[in-house]
Amino acid sequence: MVVQPRPGGRAIYATLKEQILAGAYGSQGLLPSSRALALELGVSRTTVTAAYEQLAAEGFVAIRQGARPQVAGLAPSPAAPATAAPPPGPRLSAYAARLPGGPVRWQPSPARLIADFRYGDLAASDFPTLLWKRAVDAAIARRPDRLSYGDPQGAPDLRAALQAYLWRARGLRCENSQIVVVNGSQQGLDLCARLLLDPGDRVVLENPGYAMARHIFSSVGAEAIPVPVDAEGLRTEELEKVSARLAYVTPSHQFPLGGVLPVARRRALLDWARRQGAFVIEDDYDSEFRYDIAPIPPLHALAEEGDAAAPVIYLGTVSKTLSPTLRLGYLVLPPALTESFVVAKQLTDRHTAALEQAALASLLESGAYERHIRRLRRRNAERRALLIEALRRHFGNAIRIEGDAAGLHLLAWLDSLPAGAAEPLRAAALKRQIGIHPVAPLYAPGAPRPATLGLMMGYGALEPKRIERAVLALKAAVDELG
Ligand SMILES: Cc1ncc(COP(=O)(O)O)c(C=O)c1O
Repeated sequence: MVVQPRPGGRAIYATLKEQILAGAYGSQGLLPSSRALALELGVSRTTVTAAYEQLAAEGFVAIRQGARPQVAGLAPSPAAPATAAPPPGPRLSAYAARLPGGPVRWQPSPARLIADFRYGDLAASDFPTLLWKRAVDAAIARRPDRLSYGDPQGAPDLRAALQAYLWRARGLRCENSQIVVVNGSQQGLDLCARLLLDPGDRVVLENPGYAMARHIFSSVGAEAIPVPVDAEGLRTEELEKVSARLAYVTPSHQFPLGGVLPVARRRALLDWARRQGAFVIEDDYDSEFRYDIAPIPPLHALAEEGDAAAPVIYLGTVSKTLSPTLRLGYLVLPPALTESFVVAKQLTDRHTAALEQAALASLLESGAYERHIRRLRRRNAERRALLIEALRRHFGNAIRIEGDAAGLHLLAWLDSLPAGAAEPLRAAALKRQIGIHPVAPLYAPGAPRPATLGLMMGYGALEPKRIERAVLALKAAVDELG
């Protein structure tokens, strides 16, 4: 039994422990007898005995009847060198060594901004709170008596609802058994990287492109092959020179430049993949939002036309339609890949949170999800129109807008400013409580970058009535730089 020293005894215990750890009694030295120490400190012998018993219970000393307590074989602490070198970092894996440094870490949005053009955020007021609450309540009410782990592939209800939705909304035909529910696109990409790539394997990435994908692929030791992008997306003619195991693309709305990959390039990409025996990851992250263009069927649908085992992995998410905080996404896999993905998903985290899966399934089944998307599309169309109009009015020819036909962001090029003006402009904008985000970090390291300043302007979280003020403040910041 662990004996708790009484007050007084605790101080004696703490001092003795500190002295033992500091090596004051050596690695096997003898401590004073309880009688001697009690006399020396002017406390009762019981107090000292309780302290010794606590130290013995924790393994610092050994106590034998009639003998002085003895330090219990602690390794002697090495004498500290006069100028102590910093301790070496912990020994981590090769994977850890490949992880990107600081800038990738999550950063909070500075508080009290008039507007932050950070891409990826949504307005909290756009979340269908009531619908979601009802769906979660209904899922709780349906809960069985026993709380068991769920299917790692994803709840069967949700997979069935997703299958029907993908066919209705995207013209994508698949079996439920090809769908794996994941914690957002990011987990889908992580599974692809770990299951399809070995260190040294080559992966084609759009340049500029989604940095979170680039980091995932580099973290498994793959070699990123940046392939340039133009106003129509990936320049597939460049693929002829490239061999790779995997290509990651955003054909419906190239991230970040916004091009829509034309059908000829889609065919070229699929032909390339088939010749290489490579897979193509189609990240369909924001195709629910398109404004002046007709719906574009996914690459997956085109590939399916000619081949049931098409080499396309389709990746979807609710991060743009509901909330990036839900961490809900889905993969549609070629049948031959499903088993490995499901096992890897199970080993990673058992399965995606069941209540959220059930809530999403019921929104999909009732049609509420698509009604919500239609509402959201109208709101984002309004934000987009206000933003474009304000940019044109205040900047005139000094701004070039690109990639605005779909999604929740556009690119604004300030061709009179060099790319190097990004930091001063960020500071000048922040002074006016505006958050801006240059596009330069989305270019692959070492690849050519544009000479002029481009801004990624996300508008999914903007309050429409603040857009005018925000653009005016941005104009003032640009003017300050001359
Ligand atoms: C290209 C791209 N893919 C996917 C996502 C969504 O990622 P997730 O589903 O992990 O939230 C984003 C979000 O910004 C994105 O820009």
